[in-house]
Amino acid sequence: PSLLRVGLAGLGTVGASVLNRIRLQQAALEETTHRRIVVTGVSARSKAKAASLDLGEATWFDDPIELARSGDIDLFVELMGGSGDPALTAVRHALSSGKAVVTANKALLAAHGMELATLAEERRVPLGFEASVAGGIPVVKTLREGLAGNVIDRVYGILNGTCNYILSRMELEGLGFEQCLAEAQRLGYAEADPTFDIDGFDTAHKLAILSTLAFGTAIAADAIHVEGIRTISLADIRAADELGFRIKLLGVAQRVAGGIESRVHPTMVPKSSAIAQVMGVTNAVTVDADAVRELTLIGPGAGGEATASAVVADIADIARGVRSAPFGRPVAALVPTAPVPLQRH
Ligand code: HSE
Repeated sequence: PSLLRVGLAGLGTVGASVLNRIRLQQAALEETTHRRIVVTGVSARSKAKAASLDLGEATWFDDPIELARSGDIDLFVELMGGSGDPALTAVRHALSSGKAVVTANKALLAAHGMELATLAEERRVPLGFEASVAGGIPVVKTLREGLAGNVIDRVYGILNGTCNYILSRMELEGLGFEQCLAEAQRLGYAEADPTFDIDGFDTAHKLAILSTLAFGTAIAADAIHVEGIRTISLADIRAADELGFRIKLLGVAQRVAGGIESRVHPTMVPKSSAIAQVMGVTNAVTVDADAVRELTLIGPGAGGEATASAVVADIADIARGVRSAPFGRPVAALVPTAPVPLQRH
């Protein structure tokens, strides 16, 4: 089989798992893709930390942009995070030089997804981003291809594992907010800057991507009304409980008169509903669409192995030469969204 040479930038929780999973699945992937997938180049912020990993035959690059430009890779996997540089420049270089790109970086896509998707389409190279939304849940593929025969009315769900973990632990263990956040950080679920999680921006980034896939809206995280869980107290959780509700941080994008409305805020959901049963770091995405009516995907939304599962799925698609549906061509309008704090869903 021909080689698919992978350059991997970022060796944190997800990067280390991707390295491991490519090796673990190498024979099976060779069977199904007829390509031998090998990591030939790596780059990370800390060379010392990377030294603890088995990098195999991969060449070390001090600069991820050099790795992205390298003639010795066919596919660039971006796991550095952050909406700007070096991730942005590295991905631009990789796409411009005709390399496929796989990224888990929702912040980058929320800010520059239109530009990057256009560049990828112009160069006719694939841009995979399954790992950018809801970790191990294959929701991008579901919306991008699986529901192509539907008109989608609404997509909503629990899109941040850290917040759902915090709200679950507060409710079930009676623990304080700060303690639960520290645990989520220790377990490797939270973003490098956890304010992205708890203030709702990570959910908004993911919702912007889902909305683009579901409705063909522009990827515009700044058009989303965002409210996080920082102000939710144990007393709020108890009060909701007494009324038969549970508080969840939801991202919701739906058709309304004149376009698509998107919002992120803590929401009271009836305890009997499916979404209320989703506890811990788990994510859930529900799609309301005309042919399938209602479809819910539930699974691990964060963590190295689950996110690596999505990264490897994209790599396998690219190895097989699968052409994904276009992304980032706006056809529907976004409408301004008024704040709707802690409402019943
Ligand atoms: N910090 C994110 C979460 C990681 O908690 O869901 C996955 O994007």
